[in-house]
Amino acid sequence: MSSEQPLVLGIETSCDETGVGIVRGETLLVDAVASSVDDHARFGGVVPEVASRAHLEEMVPTIERACREAGVQLRDLDAISVTSGPGLAGSLMVGVASAKALALSLGIPLYGVNHLASHVAVDIVEHGPLPEPTMALLVSGGHSSLLLVPDVTCDIRSLGSTIDDAAGEAFDKVARVLGLPFPGGPHIDRMARDGQVTIDFPRGLTTGRDMERYRFDFSFSGLKTAVSRWVQAKEVAGEPVPVADVAASFQEAVVDVLTRKAVLACREQGAENLQIGGGVAANSRLRAMAQSRCDAAGIELRVPRPGLCTDNGAMVAALGAQMVLKGRDASRLDLPADSSMPVTQIQN
Ligand code: KG4
Ligand code: ZN
Repeated sequence: MSSEQPLVLGIETSCDETGVGIVRGETLLVDAVASSVDDHARFGGVVPEVASRAHLEEMVPTIERACREAGVQLRDLDAISVTSGPGLAGSLMVGVASAKALALSLGIPLYGVNHLASHVAVDIVEHGPLPEPTMALLVSGGHSSLLLVPDVTCDIRSLGSTIDDAAGEAFDKVARVLGLPFPGGPHIDRMARDGQVTIDFPRGLTTGRDMERYRFDFSFSGLKTAVSRWVQAKEVAGEPVPVADVAASFQEAVVDVLTRKAVLACREQGAENLQIGGGVAANSRLRAMAQSRCDAAGIELRVPRPGLCTDNGAMVAALGAQMVLKGRDASRLDLPADSSMPVTQIQN
């Protein structure tokens, strides 16, 4: 390695974004993303086969673009990191195979890392080193978890997670009910700004015995059903559906539960920091409510800019660089694409 901080290129292909980021130590040099989201929109969800093919086509151009924009030559790199899982198997395989080819040809170490840990680690290139421990609320299209993170490179503990739908999945499903395009999260966020919180939708797992048994778990499928029923009842009655108010009320229910449980977890675990990551962390109401509740509780809130909350390569490069800085062993070059990699396993 050069005398400077390690120069690490990270590759992300777990879903529909081909992401290539380059980080030097804890500084982000470039974040190049090519998304196939428009190819999936007409199907109302990500089609795995379509996503894999798009990664295959976008991978080399995205690597070239990242290097060009960062003013970096491949031979300058000190390590490669790649999302090893969890995610869509075919999509992951494209990224993992590309990363292996790069590491092998350049003769540099490869780190196969967890996509979810990367959503947490990306905040290092945004706001500096993560306090240890940090409480992390990870909310994406596939996962919703509360994590105690003593060390993002080797120790992530799950305090709770969704027992049914992920938060992002709930946004996407409710958007569909409201006739909004896929992915629905950003559309609900936008619609909700023109609406009022007029409907009291259920807050799953927040009362009575649920708070004993499922203290830091989440449930969003009952909420999604409640929204569907409410909308259907309006339609049956021949009344117009107040889409903006439904969006605002649904969003408020999700955000209320997420922030309430996250602040409670910080208090009970003695964590002075809360980091929020994953695509749903781009939500403007979540960011605002988390800020006010953290301020009231004396907790420091860290949320990356929205572009670093949704899937990207910078987050994988950020975690890879931490692995190098902390002296973790590199992965073997036969590392798998691990579609169900658990959130507590940081590396393959
Ligand atoms: O982290 P991510 O890009 O991919 C996964 O790892 O799943 O998260 C995607 C999810 C989608 O469900 C999308 O609707 C949601 O994040 N999302 C949002 C917003 N932007 C993206 N949800 C609510 N509000 C947003 N502004
Ligand atoms: Zn993600």
